Amino acid sequence: MIDDLRSRFFVVAHRGASAYEPENTLRSIRRAIEIGADVVEIDVRVTRDGYPIVIHDETVDRTTDGSGLVNEFSLDGLRKLDAGEGERIPLLGEVLDLVADKINIFIEIKVDEAVLPSLKEVDVRDLWSSVMFTSFNIEHLRRVLEFNPEANVGLVYIRPVDGIVGAKKLGAIAVLPFYRLATRKAIAFAKRLKLMVIPWTIDDLNVARKLKVDGANGIVTNKPDIMLELK
Ligand code: G3P
Ligand code: CA
Repeated sequence: MIDDLRSRFFVVAHRGASAYEPENTLRSIRRAIEIGADVVEIDVRVTRDGYPIVIHDETVDRTTDGSGLVNEFSLDGLRKLDAGEGERIPLLGEVLDLVADKINIFIEIKVDEAVLPSLKEVDVRDLWSSVMFTSFNIEHLRRVLEFNPEANVGLVYIRPVDGIVGAKKLGAIAVLPFYRLATRKAIAFAKRLKLMVIPWTIDDLNVARKLKVDGANGIVTNKPDIMLELK
């Protein structure tokens, strides 16, 4: 349950346990579950034919043996690609079936076209309580809340803009700042507004330890195993 995360420090596995397995694959998510992460984080885009699929970049070049823009592939075309260790690029629905009743999930919406199909996949499985939708784009989150005002949403940001106040006004429950922006002062300000603060992406235990001391609610990491001692 996303609600339970407020009560203790938690570990989010970024693109699954992506330091050890191909990122954003079922294999990396299974590994995050085995390790004992509290949350798995994934990125969603859509195929040319409208399927929500789990991949970070705009192109398939870095993470598969193919090349080209994700949104110019049909689902059939994408599924022929090797996303590492023989893994296929997963559909969002496959990921949700894997995580259901096992682990919370942060679904990061990467493009406008991914909002509605992602909402439908969560809705049909009634996974609202274990899902938080995240995005750098506040309009994506606004659309999530229009679809379901009870949905959990968190604003991701990398520049010191008005992320905290904007997120609060929208009705977000969390902010996800680039970790260098998560100063003690910024964390305290967000927490006074009852927002959870979840910095990303931290693979150094000492940096994570300091963020915990400074008040962060949890951290996003590629190496969830080394962060477990902070829980
Ligand atoms: O959780 C936030 C983080 O995932 C945002 O950055 O580029 O890894 O999607 P990126
Ligand atoms: Ca992400």
